Amino acid sequence: MSRSYTIGIIKGDGIGPEIVDEAIKVLDAVSVAEGFDLDYKEMLLGGAAIDATGVPLPEETIAGVKECDAVLFGAIGGPKWDKLERHLRPETGLLGLRKAMGTFANLRPATVYDELANASTLKPDVVRGVDLMVVRELTGGIYFGEPRELLKDRAYNTMVYTKGEIERIARVAFDIAMKRSKKVCSVDKANVLEVSQLWRDTVTLIAKDYPEVALSHMYVDNAAMQLVRDPKQFDVILTGNIFGDILSDIASMLSGSIGLLPSASTGEGVGLFEPIHGSAPDIAGQGIANPLATISSAGMMLRYALGLDNAANRIDNAIKRALREGYRTGDIGAYDAKEIVSCSQMGDIIANYASRK
Ligand code: IPM
Ligand code: MN
Repeated sequence: MSRSYTIGIIKGDGIGPEIVDEAIKVLDAVSVAEGFDLDYKEMLLGGAAIDATGVPLPEETIAGVKECDAVLFGAIGGPKWDKLERHLRPETGLLGLRKAMGTFANLRPATVYDELANASTLKPDVVRGVDLMVVRELTGGIYFGEPRELLKDRAYNTMVYTKGEIERIARVAFDIAMKRSKKVCSVDKANVLEVSQLWRDTVTLIAKDYPEVALSHMYVDNAAMQLVRDPKQFDVILTGNIFGDILSDIASMLSGSIGLLPSASTGEGVGLFEPIHGSAPDIAGQGIANPLATISSAGMMLRYALGLDNAANRIDNAIKRALREGYRTGDIGAYDAKEIVSCSQMGDIIANYASRK
């Protein structure tokens, strides 16, 4: 009997449904080629959930993800739901889901495909060969800290990290570094923030368990600058929730388009796999979105959640091949394109290449 896995599918809003459909197309092709079965279980989150149930994170979704082997997610949010109170916003649903799933470690790799070295707004020499991984803490920090309040003339949020939260994310970063170039750069604002002082001290302590890994520390303002000045100096960047949010958007531009970067959120149980970009309401429904970040996230899901390395390699190789052969969606269409393709054509191409050996 062939192996069978249950995959949670959350399409979300904006371009979410289009890009997730392409990822499913590719997953189906790969599962046939490698001989395993995927069962999809669709769930609601964000604006789509608000429209259907009145809340951005329905109870059925919280219960549903726990029955899956992994969850693939598109994107949420859009102008339609922007005016809602904070606890009813689509983004609040996503944050609640991350918390409920305990996915405290968000891995955001930024690699530059050789074929797209010209696509970056930075000089090709600066970005060619970039291969870094942002390890972002995802369920703590200022995103979740209490107290928080919006008053009439004053508003506040709180950046909190416990030692335990820092220890566990630091271990994730060091473990990943051991499988890469054995370098961790921990990013904080320890010259100003107490929470960053604890971060730095704790990371330094954990580093003692990883004598082979070279640890450095960098202030976040400097890290933002270094990422565009000389990104090749980085291997693993370890950082907290909000700094990781910002730095991973910067890192995405090294690759040429935010439409290329996948992510994996792992932690206590079931993992959540999603592109790092948003729901792009301005281009939703036009069939021009770049599905590669989501397809690549599906590859990370096969690799990290299901241990199906061969299947994941098929996806990675198919993406490289499509780019090498000059297929481009509009976002990267200005660079060495042989043919500009739609979202679903790109899905067809990747599915086709991924199903051949
Ligand atoms: C991301 C997004 C989210 C975040 C938003 C949509 C809540 O920007 O995944 O990077 O800030 O974490
Ligand atoms: Mn973000």
